[in-house]
Parts: sequence; structure tokens; C-alpha cells
Amino acid sequence: MSGNAGLKPRSLAESGVKPFRSRDVSILFSSTTINKSRLQISRRTSTSTGTGLNARKSIRKSIYGNQITINDFEIGKKLGKGKFGKVYCARHKKSGFICALKIMDKKELINFKVEKQFRREVEIQSSVKHVNCIKLYGHFHDTDRVYLILEFAIHGELYKLLKKKGKLDEVTSSRYIYQIADALSYLHDRHIIHRDIKPENILLGFDNTVKISDFGWSVYSNQSMKRTTMCGTLDYLPPEMVEAREHNYKVDVWALGILMYEFLVGKPPFEEEFKSSTYKRIAQVDLQVPSHVSPEAKDLIQKLLRYTPEKRINLKDIETHPWIVKNKPHWDEINLEEGV
Ligand SMILES: Nc1ncnc2c1ncn2[C@@H]1O[C@H](COP(=O)(O)OP(=O)(O)O)[C@@H](O)[C@H]1O
Ligand SMILES: [Mg+2]
Repeated sequence: MSGNAGLKPRSLAESGVKPFRSRDVSILFSSTTINKSRLQISRRTSTSTGTGLNARKSIRKSIYGNQITINDFEIGKKLGKGKFGKVYCARHKKSGFICALKIMDKKELINFKVEKQFRREVEIQSSVKHVNCIKLYGHFHDTDRVYLILEFAIHGELYKLLKKKGKLDEVTSSRYIYQIADALSYLHDRHIIHRDIKPENILLGFDNTVKISDFGWSVYSNQSMKRTTMCGTLDYLPPEMVEAREHNYKVDVWALGILMYEFLVGKPPFEEEFKSSTYKRIAQVDLQVPSHVSPEAKDLIQKLLRYTPEKRINLKDIETHPWIVKNKPHWDEINLEEGV
């Protein structure tokens, strides 16, 4: 698609986005179903059409060769609203599988010239297979809309939890930071930069496992390192972006530092009433860490929030950082049921 506003919406299939077919969705039913309480993922529990292996076989058989449509789903409650559409909890009727459906208007994608970005989101997210990233099982479209079939994150946005609690304790924060660092390290190894790490895009699954979502801004870093696109959210922008210099995968490492600060302090470090003041503080790395933050946490924040991208800590070194080493033995004391 050319991306010119005013063009009549064309078929996404025509433009290279493959319609979602049952063959693609087979993975959806192959190992993961939601049990009768729909609150736990289990490899062995029953689905609404039967139990275990037989049910999965019957699902595959019944949908094989048929294109999935919106009529194959029961739409549940709205989970959230994004820039270009809404996300609903949905149940695949035949199998009982619960997922999140991200529904976007084709006209809007065209008018805002983001079809290319959308296709990249689909391409990248469907290739990502990591326990701390939301899985994209497939996609389909009809005349007006495109639909992404996503892994459902039962506990929703970390942002809401943060707003409810004000800030998070160090044990809980360290568990989240460790999981996000692991996921980012996986993405970077595959030359993927997420570019929009912030609490709204960090979701929580069963046992409050972190699930990085929203690959709408993600790119392959090896395509070109001269990426000067300003993207992401103001408070999470690194100096190289506010100064409109080139950026690379180290933007995610910076964002992780902002996230860690926000977990522990309750607000991002450079927050100001006026955008221009925030920009200035980011460019100067005008960082003030309150005294209630432990020295180990402060040290890691400072190592993540370095002005020079190359000087930021290597993600793989986070797991051996004293802050993680100190808190890790207490992770199993966290009440995971409570929504921490
Ligand atoms: N897989 C999911 N499970 C649960 N909630 C989700 C899921 N995906 C998205 N949401 C909710 O919908 C909101 C918008 O989705 P997102 O993919 O971030 O859209 P956008 O790209 O427009 O920001 C999220 O902030 C979250 O609240
Ligand atoms: Mg989002």
C-alpha cells in the first residue's frame, strides 16, 4: 500500500498482508488452552468442544482450510483502547480458546499512513516467541477492519497496577525488570528494537508474568542504523531521540531505566509540566533519585540512564547486577495471586 490518504481501502491480502487462515492458527490450539475457570493456562485441560488431544484434533479438522472470520469469535469485554482501534477479550467459539482481539479500522490505518507500520507490527510480533512477550497467533481481515489474534494477558496493564499502588516495592520491581530485560535481550538478539517500552505496554499474565506488548513502533535494527524517527512516549524518550540524533537498540535500555525509576518512585524521572522542560532534563540526564531507593537500585538506574548509548549497561549483565542478586531470593515470597 502506498499510504496515501484518501485512497479507497484496498484489500490487505492484495498488499501483502496475508489473511489469517486456520493453518496459521493451529498453533493456537496445539499446546495451550484455557481451563474451565478460564483463569489458568494448562496444557492438559478441556476445551468447550471436548477434552485434551481429541478436542484439539477436532478443532484443527473443523477449521482446516476455512478462513477465520469475526463470526468465529464471541466478543467479550473491552480490554483497552489503542491509537488505531480497540482490544477486546474474545472466545473462539469452536475451541473455547480465550484470546485478545485487536481490531483496527482499515480506513484509519490508511488515513494515518500507518499501513507499513502495521505490517511491520504483524511481521515482527508473529516471529517473537518468548514467555515475556505477548504472542501474536495470527490475523485476518474483512471489508472494513483488520484483526490481530493475541495472547490474552489476564491481569492487564502494569500501568493500572502502578496507578493503584502508587509505586512498587523493590522485590516486585526487580522481578519485573529482570523479566523485561530478558525479553528485550531476546528481541535485540533477533535485531528487533521495541521502541515503545512504557507501563501501558507492559501487560501481566498468569502469576503476574510480564508480557511485553504493542509492537506498533518496533523495527528491525539491521535494516538501517540511521533511524532518526521520533517515536515512543515523551517521558520515555532517550537523549539521542530528543536531540534528533541516530538511535539504535540502546533506546530500549534507556526506557528500561525510566521504567525501573517509575516502578520505584511512582513517576518518571524527568516529568515536568511543559514538554520543553522534560526534553531539557532528558538531554542533561538531570536525574535525582529519592533517598528511599536502595543504593543497589540507584546504581542500576544510573547504569541504564547513561547519556551515551554505548555506555548503557548490557542487558545480559542485569541478571548478575547486585540489585537483582539481592532481591531474587525473595521473589517466591511475592503474593502472585493478588495482582502485584
Ligand atoms: N493481549 C492483551 N491482553 C490484554 N489486554 C490487552 C492486550 N493487548 C492490548 N491490551 C489492552 O489494550 C490497550 C491497547 O493495546 P495496544 O496494543 O497497546 O494498542 P496501541 O498500539 O494502539 O497502543 C493496551 O494498553 C491494553 O490495555
Ligand atoms: Mg499501546
